[in-house]
Amino acid sequence: MAKKENSINPLWGGRFGSGVNDLAQSYSASIDIDKRLFEVDIKGSIAYAEALRKAKLISAIELTKIKQGLKKVSQEIHQNKFDWDPSLEDVHMNIESRLVKIAGEAAKKIHTGRSRNDQVATDLRLFLIKKIDDISNSLTSLQKTIVKLANKNTETIMPGFTHLQIAQPVTFGHHLMAWNEMLSRDYSRIKDAQTRMDVMPLGSAALSGTRFNIDRKFLAKKLGFKEVSRNSMDAVSDRDFVLELASVLSILGIHLSRICEELIIWKSSQFNFIELSDEVCTGSSIMPQKKNPDMAELIRGGSSKTIANLMGLLALLKNLPLTYNRDMQDDKEFIFSSLDYSEDSLRLMSIIIEGMKPNKAKMKEDCFKGHITATDLADYLVEKNMTFRKAHDVVGKIVAYAESKNLQVFELEISELMKFSKLIKEDVANYLNPLKTILSRNKIGGTAPAQVKKEVKKAMRILSQRK
Ligand code: ARG
Repeated sequence: MAKKENSINPLWGGRFGSGVNDLAQSYSASIDIDKRLFEVDIKGSIAYAEALRKAKLISAIELTKIKQGLKKVSQEIHQNKFDWDPSLEDVHMNIESRLVKIAGEAAKKIHTGRSRNDQVATDLRLFLIKKIDDISNSLTSLQKTIVKLANKNTETIMPGFTHLQIAQPVTFGHHLMAWNEMLSRDYSRIKDAQTRMDVMPLGSAALSGTRFNIDRKFLAKKLGFKEVSRNSMDAVSDRDFVLELASVLSILGIHLSRICEELIIWKSSQFNFIELSDEVCTGSSIMPQKKNPDMAELIRGGSSKTIANLMGLLALLKNLPLTYNRDMQDDKEFIFSSLDYSEDSLRLMSIIIEGMKPNKAKMKEDCFKGHITATDLADYLVEKNMTFRKAHDVVGKIVAYAESKNLQVFELEISELMKFSKLIKEDVANYLNPLKTILSRNKIGGTAPAQVKKEVKKAMRILSQRK
């Protein structure tokens, strides 16, 4: 292949005799991905310039020039007038080299005592901390939507399932509040990850720290970090914060996926438990009658990206010696993909749930299938002093008998039930009716409407106090 003469990189090319090979140049460029860091990169550089001034490494005039230059760069990027150059590798060098063109000699001092290694670690933390704010706000909105719907359905009865077989009656509100519990844990996990992430690497320089009189605490305050890193080598090598967030987002992804799976099942003609709004469904190009829950399917399917991204990050980091290695550059593609999925899916999920209508009649109808109160009948016998194991056996025989007659247990005459145990009396009727049995689950965490109402109230208070 003919050698292509690329120019030598002005920011690090001092010792080089020739420019980088064409393929090597495009192979190593990360600008298409890391340009998303431009805002935090500029913010970091403005703070760093102030720290340089405080250390008397630049003059007041130079500081002004640098700050004005960086503001101009920011404007250019916002107005889409910035010419991103892949030969300058990444966002940091693109911005610095433009700054030099705008601010001249002063700008050539901005990287004093700084390395892209502490710069990128700082940028990424700043970026992710802000994204976590956005995602937790969307999580809160989604939870509020869910809890609001639960509040309207504390008495709506539906079958609860295990193994996807009808198990025991529950309230729809109780089921929705289970989703709220899952998402509450996601919220607490992501906030926890944010707290651990809130440490500033800047001032660690390439790996060993800085010889210049950079006031790191002043810098951290300017940038809004709670803490300053305590080991320069760790500060430039650590990507636990990315792994942790990717892990939290993959758990969130799995939760969203499981919720969507339920919506898809509930919307099927066989279940017919819910209707979804036209807004979030699509039709078939051949079958005119179809209304498919595509958005729920895409959220379910898309969650696989959060798992893949976590696996990718774990594999990327597992063999890296301290300190910085260029492999780390690829962390961004993974984590940005998980962030994009989470942000969009949370918002879409709120729209889906906002427009979802329970089909209460069908939910109730299905509570009279699957011998749904068989456990209550066993509980009845226990209350009449039979051991639970014996009661389980007796009710098992009653179920088999009912099935042989193609009836539900509650459809059997009480006189027929009495043949299975002398303990069964007329009062058994209350234990066979699902509308009555849900009232009995009236302990903390149970499905009784009174409990669900309490939980809804508590959740509403917690959600309104967030932030
Ligand atoms: N673009 C690089 C990254 O994201 C910046 C750090 C490069 N450092 C270096 N010594 N080559 O990881």
